[in-house]
Amino acid sequence: MTFALSDERERTLQEILSRYPTKMAATIPFLHLCQEQHGWVSDEICEYVAKRLDLSAAHVKGVATFYSLFNKEPVGKHQVWVCRTLPCALAGAENVLKHCEKRLGIHAGETTRDGKVTLRTAECLASCGSGPMMQVDRDYYENLTLAEVDKILDRVTR
Ligand code: FES
Repeated sequence: MTFALSDERERTLQEILSRYPTKMAATIPFLHLCQEQHGWVSDEICEYVAKRLDLSAAHVKGVATFYSLFNKEPVGKHQVWVCRTLPCALAGAENVLKHCEKRLGIHAGETTRDGKVTLRTAECLASCGSGPMMQVDRDYYENLTLAEVDKILDRVTR
């Protein structure tokens, strides 16, 4: 099936394009729109974005692969990111990650068999004073205890 933005997202794209001086400047928000709709950024989507913005597919793929927030493969319904950078590591991030891996039955970088959760590690998520922390979809959870991690995972695996 050929990828195309939904009518609503197409309207959002037109509004985004009207705000930028060049089409190229809209590459990142355009990729976000595509990922919202499709769940991840495939080669086909890179080609679609490139064609629409008069760019090379290699340029768009370079942008998509540079930023960790763009998924390069299909992912679970929910994404759990555990920050592992030094301030969070000193506050216990490794225990949080191990706990998540044990609870979910997967390793970081994998998706549960039911497709509900993808577990990932992240470099600093800019919440260094409140570690250990993790991001679940768009929400931050900070100063985590393992009991709080359990409650969060209960919600996303329901
Ligand atoms: S080190 Fe974890 S948010 Fe910065």
